[in-house]
Amino acid sequence: MVEFEAVTKQFHSGSAAVDNLTIDIDRGAITVLVGPSGCGKTTSLRMINRMVEPTSGTIRVNSEDISSKPAAQLRRSMGYVMQSAGLMPHRTVVENIATVPRLNGQSRKDSRRRALELLDVVGLQGAMAKRYPSQLSGGQQQRVGVARALAADPPILLMDEPFSAVDPVVRAELQTELLRLQKDLSKTIVFVTHDIDEATVLGDKVAVFATGGRVAQYATAEEILRAPVDDFVAGFVGRDRGFRHLAFNSGEQLWVHPIGTRSVSELPKGNAGREWTLMADDGGRPVGWMAPDSPPLTDRTELVPGGSLYRRGDSLRGAMDAALSSPSGLGVVIDDGGKVAGVVKPGEVLSAIEQSRIDRNRGNGTG
Ligand SMILES: Nc1ncnc2c1ncn2[C@@H]1O[C@H](COP(=O)(O)OP(=O)(O)OP(=O)(O)O)[C@@H](O)[C@H]1O
Ligand SMILES: [Mg+2]
Repeated sequence: MVEFEAVTKQFHSGSAAVDNLTIDIDRGAITVLVGPSGCGKTTSLRMINRMVEPTSGTIRVNSEDISSKPAAQLRRSMGYVMQSAGLMPHRTVVENIATVPRLNGQSRKDSRRRALELLDVVGLQGAMAKRYPSQLSGGQQQRVGVARALAADPPILLMDEPFSAVDPVVRAELQTELLRLQKDLSKTIVFVTHDIDEATVLGDKVAVFATGGRVAQYATAEEILRAPVDDFVAGFVGRDRGFRHLAFNSGEQLWVHPIGTRSVSELPKGNAGREWTLMADDGGRPVGWMAPDSPPLTDRTELVPGGSLYRRGDSLRGAMDAALSSPSGLGVVIDDGGKVAGVVKPGEVLSAIEQSRIDRNRGNGTG
């Protein structure tokens, strides 16, 4: 869909910002450009909509050389989201979103209606429409930025570190939202980040840039974690790559052991000589643990906080983390409604990891 062929960009100041870049970006997929600061990610992204012109090489969109297209028209045919959301401060939210449809010649009324629809699509309440950007949180501004980029319904979305200015929790939310949106929209998304975790969560394909504007590896996220091509990529991907790779192994086969729970609305008189006891609220959702030999508790805040929760069927990464972070050593499994479905045991998660390695090797014909 977007092809870079031997593209180089040299600014006046010196060495190449992008050096002989050749990659083919798939239609309807999320392609992430990731790499350390200054390695040419933004420059590469901006060459796609001609905000930056290559020094040499060719970029084709839908097999057409973009240098033959008027830059302004090209720019409006692609959504662009930048790090700071880039909203116009003196315009309301709804006006910000409606800008590109207006430029594309839609009536004021249609543009506004579309803008209000999009607010809903990105998970913002209609009441936000009349606010100014400064009256929104960072995460809300980013959502408006995404809505604005979607307003003209462009087939291509360029996103430059769109979620880097928000805290980790909001960031994870925005990532989930983007994946949900993408399920319905199937846009061709080029997404820039310097966070390898974000890259592997979002990317169907990931291009790892090295300093000097060179692509060190271009592959699926799974492959980059499993088989980095060189020391640079291995170093960039980081020490936890083995653990992170578990995110690509399904925990479907894991045995979920049943566990009895007790209700926090009736705190037990004590837990003498018993095993760890999992406490749940009236809806069956896990609340925390009561330790063996615990004295009677007077308040639920005295429970031992639980570890991370594992949703049945999610990846082995989640299962392992639930087991490792649980004070009882038993990873709490929940169903889609958030109710306790049972527990997983660390030894069995390890066995499942080993089994999936064996299966993979068989699949590769090397086992
Ligand atoms: N307009 C410009 N004029 C001169 N040099 C530039 C210009 N824009 C970028 N560069 C240089 O090109 C190189 C690549 O910059 P670019 O912004 O593409 O990096 P990046 O990978 O997006 O980095 P970051 O993660 O910090 O955003 C850098 O060395 C930068 O200083
Ligand atoms: Mg950049």
